[in-house]
Amino acid sequence: MKAVVLYEQGGVEKLVYADYPNPEITVSEVLVQVEACALNRLDLKARQDRPEVDPFPHILGSDIAGIVVEVGAKVKQISVGNRVVLSPNISCGQCSDCVSGYENLCNRQKLIGFQTNGGYAEYVAVPSVNAVPIADDLDFSAAAAIPIAYLTAWHMLVTRARIQPGEDVLVLSVGSGVGSAGLQIAKLSGCRVFATASSEEKLQVARQMGADFTVNYTQTDFSQFVLDLTNGRGVDVVLEHVGQATWEQSLDSLAKNGRLVTCGVTTGNQGQIDIRKMYQKQLSLLGSALGSTPELRTVVQLANSGTLNPVVDRTLPLQQAQLAHQILEDRLNFGKICLSPTIRDSPTTV
Ligand SMILES: NC(=O)c1ccc[n+]([C@@H]2O[C@H](COP(=O)([O-])OP(=O)(O)OC[C@H]3O[C@@H](n4cnc5c(N)ncnc54)[C@H](OP(=O)(O)O)[C@@H]3O)[C@@H](O)[C@H]2O)c1
Ligand SMILES: [Zn+2]
Repeated sequence: MKAVVLYEQGGVEKLVYADYPNPEITVSEVLVQVEACALNRLDLKARQDRPEVDPFPHILGSDIAGIVVEVGAKVKQISVGNRVVLSPNISCGQCSDCVSGYENLCNRQKLIGFQTNGGYAEYVAVPSVNAVPIADDLDFSAAAAIPIAYLTAWHMLVTRARIQPGEDVLVLSVGSGVGSAGLQIAKLSGCRVFATASSEEKLQVARQMGADFTVNYTQTDFSQFVLDLTNGRGVDVVLEHVGQATWEQSLDSLAKNGRLVTCGVTTGNQGQIDIRKMYQKQLSLLGSALGSTPELRTVVQLANSGTLNPVVDRTLPLQQAQLAHQILEDRLNFGKICLSPTIRDSPTTV
C-alpha cells in the first residue's frame, strides 16, 4: 500500500510517501481502508522527537475514518462495508481502570498512530472494538475530525468541568482542534463563550460559529478582557491547552468557584499558582486526558444527527503530508487538517 512513512524523526522532510507492506489483521481485528485521517499537534511532536513513537519505520495518524474491508474470524459487531471512525486509544481492557470505564486512565493504553502504526496510509489494522459506525451521510473528513479533538473537549467540558447552561466559558486558542470543538460543545450546552486567538481571521470564524466575545490575546491581556466584560466577576470555566504561556492569565480569568480544565502544554509544562487566591476563590483545577469509548459514541451520535458539525480546515491528498504538517506548525488552521489517500487533486500551497 501507499503510506507516509517516518524512517527517522526530524523536520517535515522526514515524512516520506512510499510503498509499505499491507497490515495483516488478527482474529479480533478489522482492516480499515482509510478515507480520511486528521492531524493533531501530537503528530508534530511525534515526527520531531517524542521517544514513545513505535514501531520504526513508523506511520503516524491517530484520527481515522474509513470503510471496513476485512474482519477477523472472531469479530461479530462490525461487518465488511461498514463506514467507521476509530477510537484512537487501544487499552488493555482488563485492568481496574478499563473495567470501570476509565480506559483513558489505563497504564497499558496505546495511542493509534503514536505507539502503533496509524492512518497516514491506505489501510490500517485495529481492534474491532475501536471501530464506531458513522452515518451514511457523515463526511469522512468530518468523522476523522472527531476522535481526539471532540472526545477531549467533551471530556474536558462535560465530564470534568460539568458545564451548565448559562455559564461563562473561556476557550483558549479557539482555532485549535480542541478549541474549535470546545466552542461548539460549550454553545451546544447553552453557555456564553469567550474565545481567544492570535489572529483576527480566526476570531471572525469563531464569531460566525457562535462565540459571544473574542479577543486577540497577542494584543490584549485576555484575563483583563474577560474581567471587563463580566463586571469583574470572571468566567465559570476556562478550557486550557496552551500551557505555560497562558496559565496565569487563565487562572486570573476565573470567577469565584471557577474551574480550570486543562489537557495540554503546547508552550511548556510549568505553571505558577497563587495558592491563597486559589482557596479564597474556591477554584478547582481539573486535568483531562482523552475520554472513554462511550463518550466517543455520544459525540459521534451528535455528529451523525448533525447536532455537532466537526470543523475541518481542509483535506489534502496523503502525498501532501509535509504541507499539512507545515500548516499546522505555522498555526494557520482553524479546526482540523485532514489527509486522504483517496483524493488526488488539491492546491499545493498554503
Ligand atoms: N490530553 C489530551 O488528551 C489531549 C488531547 C488533544 C490535544 N491535547 C493537547 O492540546 C493542545 C492543542 O492540541 P490541538 O491538536 O488542538 O492543537 P492545534 O490544532 O495544533 O492548535 C494549537 C494552537 O495553539 C495555539 N498556540 C498558542 N501558542 C502557541 C505556540 N507557542 N506554538 C504553537 N501553537 C500555539 C495556536 O493558536 P493561536 O495562534 O490562535 O494561539 C495553535 O493553532 C496540544 O498541546 C495537544 O497536545 C491533549
Ligand atoms: Zn487497562
